[in-house]
Amino acid sequence: MDKKVTVVGSGNVGAAVAQRLAEKELCDVVLLDIIEGMPQGKALDLAEAAPIEKHDAHLIGTNSYEASADSDIVIITAGIARKPGMSRDDLIGTNAKIVRSITEQASRYSPESIIIVVSNPLDAMCHVAYETSGFSKNRVMGMAGILDSARFRAFIAAELNVSVESTHAFVLGGHGDLMVPLPRYSTVAGIPITELLSRERIDALVNRTANGGAEIVSLLKTGSAYYAPASGAVEMAESILKDKKKILPCAAYLEGEYGIHDLFIGVPVKLGAVGIEQIVEVRLTDEEMAALHRSARTVEESKIVLKKMT
Ligand code: NAI
Ligand code: 2OP
Repeated sequence: MDKKVTVVGSGNVGAAVAQRLAEKELCDVVLLDIIEGMPQGKALDLAEAAPIEKHDAHLIGTNSYEASADSDIVIITAGIARKPGMSRDDLIGTNAKIVRSITEQASRYSPESIIIVVSNPLDAMCHVAYETSGFSKNRVMGMAGILDSARFRAFIAAELNVSVESTHAFVLGGHGDLMVPLPRYSTVAGIPITELLSRERIDALVNRTANGGAEIVSLLKTGSAYYAPASGAVEMAESILKDKKKILPCAAYLEGEYGIHDLFIGVPVKLGAVGIEQIVEVRLTDEEMAALHRSARTVEESKIVLKKMT
């Protein structure tokens, strides 16, 4: 393949990302982890599936960054995941150290790459990667809004008994309990769900979406979601690798857009070959804007926690 993506962290999310990237034949994949043998074993296993899955992507597993050199994209999925009773913010101390050390090494070996952060707490970890890499803001972003929107879409489709393909949804804000699902901009075949469902049902779906991560954690008990998160990260990578210019909700560094300054938070962006080409500012009602700012305040608080730790 003429494109190369390094996936750092070869656990549940990382391995699923590698599998989807390879099976969609988007790029060659380097799977990296600190556990000796694990990324090598997973990469070999995936490579041995290639003849059956019919793809020619090369997969390498490694514990060092040499093999990651000159990657087009680095996807950071390393760190601890939450367990029942833990919030995403409980992960901040451990994961900030991990994301910082990964970013230092990955950005040295791939200075022209685009970084997609998945590790939690997502918006705060984007800051760590942004500050550590010194990359321009269009080249550092986080995956969460696509996942949250996909959950909302899945629930809308089930509620109305329609194909998920006919649904569209936008969830903005931080990747936390105060994320902001936008029913007015969430549609079935272009029709806003506010015209298809009662306020009560919409509130129930919004609530389930905001708690979607916790719902999976409480079922799995030993970790958090990974199939849908991997799909979200791969949709971002695909839009960049193919210069598709999809409009997707991603964590992006805001400098005044939506009245928010110096903060990574989920907003619609246009994703192409150079990364974030544009931050799309959709018109929000006063209530929606207030919800976005409430969400932003929680991200601001985790940024303050981060500052105190350094
Ligand atoms: P996991 O525990 O299955 O995998 C994490 C991997 O990171 C492990 O294999 C571990 O050895 C590796 N790792 C730890 N330190 C490392 C380092 N310094 N260098 C390289 N690898 C290192 O966890 P899982 O389920 O894959 O989740 C990973 C992260 O992604 C968690 O922080 C989780 O909360 C987050 N997440 C975020 C989502 C989002 O929407 N943004 C969705 C799902 C997960
Ligand atoms: C999720 O929402 C753990 O943040 C992850 O599933």
